[in-house]
Amino acid sequence: MNFLKKHIHQLPAYRVPQTPDCTKLNQNESPYDIPQDLKERICVDLGARAWNRYPQDECLSLLNSLSRYAGLPAAAILVGNSSNELIQTVIYSACDSGDGILVVRPTFSVYRRVAAIMGVKVVEVPLNRDFSFNTEAIIGKMQQVKMVILASPNNPTGTVIPLSEIAQLTQLFKGLVVVDEAYFEFHRQTARDLIDKYSNLVVLRTFSKALSLAGLRLGYLLGQPQVVQQLKKAKLPFSVGLFQQVVGEAILNRQAFVQANVRRIILGREHLFKRLAGLPGIDPVPSNTNFILFRTSRVPAAALFQALLQQGVLLRCFDSGELKNYLRVNVGTDEENRYFLGRIENLLEELDG
Ligand SMILES: Cc1ncc(COP(=O)(O)O)c(C=O)c1O
Repeated sequence: MNFLKKHIHQLPAYRVPQTPDCTKLNQNESPYDIPQDLKERICVDLGARAWNRYPQDECLSLLNSLSRYAGLPAAAILVGNSSNELIQTVIYSACDSGDGILVVRPTFSVYRRVAAIMGVKVVEVPLNRDFSFNTEAIIGKMQQVKMVILASPNNPTGTVIPLSEIAQLTQLFKGLVVVDEAYFEFHRQTARDLIDKYSNLVVLRTFSKALSLAGLRLGYLLGQPQVVQQLKKAKLPFSVGLFQQVVGEAILNRQAFVQANVRRIILGREHLFKRLAGLPGIDPVPSNTNFILFRTSRVPAAALFQALLQQGVLLRCFDSGELKNYLRVNVGTDEENRYFLGRIENLLEELDG
């Protein structure tokens, strides 16, 4: 297949193991689906619209709701088909093949994937041993690249880079700084207020986590209006369909539901953290997201992962480099959290004994 780029051949397939009928705690999704009455109302609304026409590319109505939610004018917002699409858009827009992007390690794998497909080099800066950001090292290396992309809070560690350090590196950098705030609602601190001051800063957000809509594929970018205008040209036209526009707006208008879920997830996270920290040989990393990364020092991560899977609990297993012997669990409903904790407690006793 010489007709395809060698970068594609070299890339492993993107696969997240899925197991039907298990307690699914592996993809940082919300455990709370949107209410049935809202789904039904949306279906009626969609039924009354013309499906034979292209959707409105400007997403005006959704943008107005997002403007209220995000606290910036509509002209400062670009809507995309998931934040993955917007990650692709910013890398397309800032880099030519042979240029570089800077990421921390470990972080969300899609940055590296999109870069690889485009022949863009990836400069990695390891996080500190406690998974905090090494801003001095980022500043030391960023002049080698065209773009810096930082997830804050970071996936899979749940750690954040302080806003003062984002401001510092953005000020010193000539290229584009992208702050991926996929988990913003669980942390609340945002780089949004720095956008006014720095034209080279954009923020990415998603509907896939706190807004319960991973199945929808909807994300947005915040930036200065003239930057948003340019980035929009690099995004595929009509990538945000009618369904996404209608459902996205509907969830933004159900703030009581969203905020109640966020509170429940944060409480669940604190409970999970305490209980995990009390288990022998388990060291959870303090998290600002809807998931917790933890190290297992008495039982190998792969063995614990498999044993949990056999008991019907699916986590995410990382088992190499600085994440050797780490697993990640996302916060579920109270019942899911209880089930997971019960299983892991029993297994640790059995496997350890
Ligand atoms: C840091 C980060 N950014 C982006 C995404 C992807 O979000 P979306 O579903 O909008 O593509 C994820 C998903 O896990 C993530 O962890």
